[in-house]
Amino acid sequence: MAYDCIEVRPLTRRIGAEIGGVDLTRPLGSQQQVEIHQALADYQVIFFRDQPLGHEAHKAFGRLFGDLAIHPGVAGLVDHPEIVAIHADAESKYIAGENWHSDLTCNAEPPLGSILYMHTVPRDGGDTMFASMYAAYEALSDRMKAYLEGLTAVHDGDHVYRPLFPDLDKRYPCNTHPVVRTHPVTGRKALFVNASYTIRINEVPEEESDAVLAYLYQHCANPNFHVRFRWRPHSVAFWDNRCTQHLAVWDYFPDVRSGFRVTVAGDKPF
Ligand code: SIN
Repeated sequence: MAYDCIEVRPLTRRIGAEIGGVDLTRPLGSQQQVEIHQALADYQVIFFRDQPLGHEAHKAFGRLFGDLAIHPGVAGLVDHPEIVAIHADAESKYIAGENWHSDLTCNAEPPLGSILYMHTVPRDGGDTMFASMYAAYEALSDRMKAYLEGLTAVHDGDHVYRPLFPDLDKRYPCNTHPVVRTHPVTGRKALFVNASYTIRINEVPEEESDAVLAYLYQHCANPNFHVRFRWRPHSVAFWDNRCTQHLAVWDYFPDVRSGFRVTVAGDKPF
């Protein structure tokens, strides 16, 4: 589509575009909103530079895309429960999102997407990588596509969050979703399993499930499906969680990398 009110610079052939000509700290015009929705659909993850987002502006931008979700495992800010701090420094024992994942696929209705704003970044390193699950699906052989058709998989939050937050009384979500989902906006098919949450394909023996999932995770790691984002202070990344995975690279210890994330609620995958 042609973009009249925003500038769109694709970063790779398959995924990712940098968006210019908008100021996310102020209310957006209706045509800008339409075009940003379209850019997200077209590029799966979109990036903005030089956007010193306050919490209210951050939430207002997220709400243009849907309700904001509360994270079931990570507490939000005291006055802004919809905002989660993403922070690493010399005291950190782990960071959020070190392994390939889509956000919260353990939920019955996994998020539509997440909007990450970084105010402090290391001088070098600390990139985020994104993978197109459309590209990963489309590159599968026809035989593998036929094999995966109709399969479902279990996505479990317990093994992700319990080691980090061992609260005996708390049960983290666990849900079943199709292995290949159809994007509700674009109608395109996307692979929908990830190494963080997906533990089991339901319709086949366990050994076969393990082998097929291992193959699919290895397949998704192909750089041909990826874009790598180099942060600067006050950059924003907005990914469509329904058709991407991402991974935060922790190559900057003990330096500080810090920002905030809102998550836009999604719907039941089909
Ligand atoms: C996340 O998985 O939401 C964190 C991504 C990042 O810090 O780059």
